[in-house]
Amino acid sequence: MAKNFKRYLVTSALPYANGPVHIGHLAGVYVPSDIYTRYLRLRGCDVLSICGSDEHGVPITIKAKREGITPQQVVDRYHAIIKKSFEDLGIAFDIYSRTSSDMHTQTASEFFRKLYDEGKFVERTSQQYYDEEAKMFLADRYIMGTCPKCGNERAYGDQCEACGSTLSPDELIEPHSTLSGSVPVKRDTKHWYLPLNDYEQMLREWILEGHKEWKSNVYGQCKSWLDGGLQPRAVSRDLDWGIPVPVEGAEGKVLYVWFDAPIGYISATKELTPDWEKYWKSEDTKLVHFIGKDNIVFHCIVFPSMLRAHGEYILPENVPSNEFLNLEGDKISTSRNWAVWLHEYLEDMPGKEDVLRYVLCANAPETKDNDFTWKDYQARNNNELVAVLGNFVNRALVLTKKYYDGVVPAAGSLTEYDRATIEELSQIKASLESNIENYRFREALKDAMNYARIGNKYLADSEPWKVVKTDAERVKTILNIALQITANIAIAIEPFMPFSAAKILRMLAVDHFEWDSLGAMSLIEAGHTIGTPELLFEKIEDETIQRQLDKLEATKAANAAAEVKAEPQKAECTFDDFQKMDIRVSTIVAAEKVAKTKKLLKLTVDTGIDTRTIVSGIAEHFTPEQLIGQQVLVLVNLAPRELKGILSQGMILMAEDATGALRLVQPSEPVKSGSMVG
Ligand code: MF3
Ligand code: ZN
Repeated sequence: MAKNFKRYLVTSALPYANGPVHIGHLAGVYVPSDIYTRYLRLRGCDVLSICGSDEHGVPITIKAKREGITPQQVVDRYHAIIKKSFEDLGIAFDIYSRTSSDMHTQTASEFFRKLYDEGKFVERTSQQYYDEEAKMFLADRYIMGTCPKCGNERAYGDQCEACGSTLSPDELIEPHSTLSGSVPVKRDTKHWYLPLNDYEQMLREWILEGHKEWKSNVYGQCKSWLDGGLQPRAVSRDLDWGIPVPVEGAEGKVLYVWFDAPIGYISATKELTPDWEKYWKSEDTKLVHFIGKDNIVFHCIVFPSMLRAHGEYILPENVPSNEFLNLEGDKISTSRNWAVWLHEYLEDMPGKEDVLRYVLCANAPETKDNDFTWKDYQARNNNELVAVLGNFVNRALVLTKKYYDGVVPAAGSLTEYDRATIEELSQIKASLESNIENYRFREALKDAMNYARIGNKYLADSEPWKVVKTDAERVKTILNIALQITANIAIAIEPFMPFSAAKILRMLAVDHFEWDSLGAMSLIEAGHTIGTPELLFEKIEDETIQRQLDKLEATKAANAAAEVKAEPQKAECTFDDFQKMDIRVSTIVAAEKVAKTKKLLKLTVDTGIDTRTIVSGIAEHFTPEQLIGQQVLVLVNLAPRELKGILSQGMILMAEDATGALRLVQPSEPVKSGSMVG
């Protein structure tokens, strides 16, 4: 590493508190950042890991409106869920704060105020859509209209979800406010802009020349932004949820969420330690932002410009960002509920925290989008965690228990094969460290698993369970080496699978190993008594996986049903037209299939006027048993007609959706047969 840093400040993108965290967030940001910080802590580095909930912004106000609660209630709910689920997965932030805290309001306000006082903003008046009924300016998301590209009538002012186009409210055909339904008008509004163009040169030198080592996806996005030329960017909004713009004459205006949220990293550090300035303001701190790829411009262009405009803060040394994780071949989507939610996973799969951490790291979308599938999850658990890691550790411990009553045997003289194995193991540490330090976590995990792979092979090749019958001394050496490897595994997997590392330590009856001793073959002394062996991982059965797949199927079905559009309204009819129809509540007293037909049922109904026969084409939707005894609505004065030789006298009213599913239309409580409907 070119520079020698004294301390690390690691931040993880603040998740929006408008929904729970899912596997895409974890694989992209939180699992990698946790591996990185756990590793640094193990190496004895001075490191802080900072995160918290991002609690401002329009999506939160929309969610609140939709549910009829306040934005504060929305963020309180999700902040609690997210915080707990991170803890339960072993994501070890030093602080998980939130941007609705007083500390944050104060920090962000002061930040804005300093830039304002020093003339770092430009003020501009522009025209924006205003809802005269709701008496407020409309964020792009609050405007709906017809998409000019695909004709979708429910496109938003910033995006059409049907065709994926990015839009501006001006492009919408027949825009209307989602708050009142009224047609919005243009009004003048004043906002503060950060002139990013002033920082273009600084950013070019800092990133394009100074940080060619950044991941190519991050570097590439920065380059294309910079090559496109930067424009002033508004840092305030007309909204009633957020941090009020702290200047005179700014009523009804708040800081833009992307202005306040990254300052949240600073507020959280302040909340954590009185020493916070040392981490933020000194050049020998290495600042690393872990983010998702949709956050790149904000962390590489906007926030650094803000930090420079302020003048006292350091810039990040790296901004590792992953691509996206898909789920079973489809884009993860909060609005379509297409996700594996962390809090649900923890409930459905108790004790399997490390399995998820393992799978998400092994399959992390580091260089390209990747797919999470439950089959792959199962295979990695069964073939890698159980068959390799768990199996090796278990054999080493169980054999020690069996042959030596748990007392670690001393190693005798080493064979050529022992030496070759030890040599191979000693190579791993350097690679593991360099991979983590360079944000190649998948490779790093392979390195950590290599201890177990080599150990497994060592036991399989040296067969202590056979040798014990002929050469008891040799077995002592084999098991001593196997236990040393087990100890190495406990060290190496801690950043990735902390629960399992702790479990191995417990089974070895050891408190702690130093990271620096990784690779050593003298971690456990002869004569030490180990604890009780337990299984490290369990095989996951098909039924468990099937339950998860069924859950996703149910989501798909629900989404498909929600997407079906209602038929357009029919031509107008008069009250007299309607009055001609005689509709009566009737009771089905008998039902049977009409012979030699697939669709027809012959029903006998008590209409209150008489008992009559109706032939209905619903045999594919209802069995006769489902219908007998049900009350239905019958159009009794429909002209009779003959069907398959049976005279049908009336029609039963049904609800039918566009997928063709049929439901009976019934009074909410039983009423007397013959009651009029109208
Ligand atoms: N809430 C944003 C997201 O989930 C991330 C904010 S990162 C911060 O995409 F830096 F602004 F805090
Ligand atoms: Zn469209």
